Amino acid sequence: MPEALYERLAAGLTQPVAAQPVTLVIFGGAGDLAHRKLLPALYNLYLDGLLPPRYAILGVGRKDLTDEGYRAFARDGVEHFSRRPPEPARWQTFAESLFFMNAGLEDPEAFASLGARLDTIEHERGLPGNRIYYLAVPSSLFVPTVKNLARARFVGPPDTPPFSRLIVEKPIGRDLASACAINDAIAEVFDERQIYRIDHYLGKETVQNILVLRFANSIFEPLFNQKFIDHVQITVAEEEGVGTRAGYYEQAGALRDMVQNHIMQLLALVAMEPPRSIDAEVVRDEKLEVILSLRPIQGEAVDRSVIRAQYTAGFDLGAPVPAYRDEPDVDPHSRVETYVALQVFIDDWRWAGVPVFLRTGKRLPKRASEISIHLKEVPPILFNADPNGRLDPNVLSIRIQPDEGFALSISSKVPGPRVRIYPVKMDFRYGATFGQASPEAYERLLLDVMAGDPTLFMRRDAVEAAWRFVMPILDRWAEQANKPLPTYAAGEWGPPEADRLIESEGRRWRDL
Ligand code: BG6
Repeated sequence: MPEALYERLAAGLTQPVAAQPVTLVIFGGAGDLAHRKLLPALYNLYLDGLLPPRYAILGVGRKDLTDEGYRAFARDGVEHFSRRPPEPARWQTFAESLFFMNAGLEDPEAFASLGARLDTIEHERGLPGNRIYYLAVPSSLFVPTVKNLARARFVGPPDTPPFSRLIVEKPIGRDLASACAINDAIAEVFDERQIYRIDHYLGKETVQNILVLRFANSIFEPLFNQKFIDHVQITVAEEEGVGTRAGYYEQAGALRDMVQNHIMQLLALVAMEPPRSIDAEVVRDEKLEVILSLRPIQGEAVDRSVIRAQYTAGFDLGAPVPAYRDEPDVDPHSRVETYVALQVFIDDWRWAGVPVFLRTGKRLPKRASEISIHLKEVPPILFNADPNGRLDPNVLSIRIQPDEGFALSISSKVPGPRVRIYPVKMDFRYGATFGQASPEAYERLLLDVMAGDPTLFMRRDAVEAAWRFVMPILDRWAEQANKPLPTYAAGEWGPPEADRLIESEGRRWRDL
């Protein structure tokens, strides 16, 4: 690529620096999320010069760690999970901003000590008391932590400096009632404008690009409706099994873990109406409309339109892997689904009658997340007249990960004297075009919280609307405790029932 063009693109990719000095308090600071995602993301923001000029990061948790111990924990996380390794001199400077405090989040006394510790750190580092509190803890601790923040008078009003902001990790509850209870309790302490509910899919470059693809080009948008689209597929496939997260996953399952949040958000971005501006509330209003327009799936319709399954023993890249029920800490009789496939409809004018197929699962053959928009067939005339050799309809595929990019499949003539038609691809790849790895989702999201931009975060009404949609499915399953649960061997693309779901509608899952 010519250097000038490369520089222009690279400049376009840099983000504004979050200017205000800030203290980030990570509850669950010595946990897995902090280790794998948050501390590496903060380090990369630091390397890119995107952190504010003055800041401090205080991890809070039950581990017995000194500040030095916490810095070693963070370094280990960066060594293993960061997109860039620690550079000794720069690491040293970054690490000086990291602190740790051992505290129980249900203990109001601990918050008095936390206050004293924060005052000292902020005084020494010349920080004005702008604070971001990050709830990287199990959702059972959300309410007690927030109540203790209020009791300790750590939370100021939304419009008066210094600012107080709250980041809430998913899962927000495990059903509609518990989600509402959490949202109510948080609302007693924080104004909605101060709350940043994370869905890390929204921080992925490729997910942000969905709006750009749709609304910064004139070629696609006129086609995005029931006149031209045959159906839509969204797949979020994972190669890994449940790993060490059985404690959480046994209470969740694929529908709660992936569909209620990440897949709903992808669907909302693909299907929403053009917002009148990129203002956070306007964009979030339009996304909400999509979730509210989903046709409810209730009662017997659940059995027809939703397939759940669990993986049995199988193979991952040729190596044998255990069944879900044999994974550490999983109940040997567990009925938790590790796979789910659904057919949904968006009952609005744009999408009326267009089936949307969603699927996600663990221990599938590979990690591959993609949205594919399948256009209608051309009429069976001219090049598509042969009933035994129909042309492949055009497909726009948006690859979320890996191999980020998008492709459009088009029918083309094979060179030669005869008219033979073959599907070819126009393919865009981020890596090849922009010459750099995309930032991790958490980098962008943390930066946005520091800058006070809520666009990429979930508003309360959207979280609750998504729960409202999945509740009848969960209720139906709860009534069917004795119904056999479909299975698939680890390393396969889900159960045969999921193939039948889509094939009975005359379509097939896209090969990924
Ligand atoms: C999390 C889920 O939200 O997303 C996990 O709890 C899942 O079960 C993960 O593995 C997938 O995220 P990513 O970014 O690796 O696709």
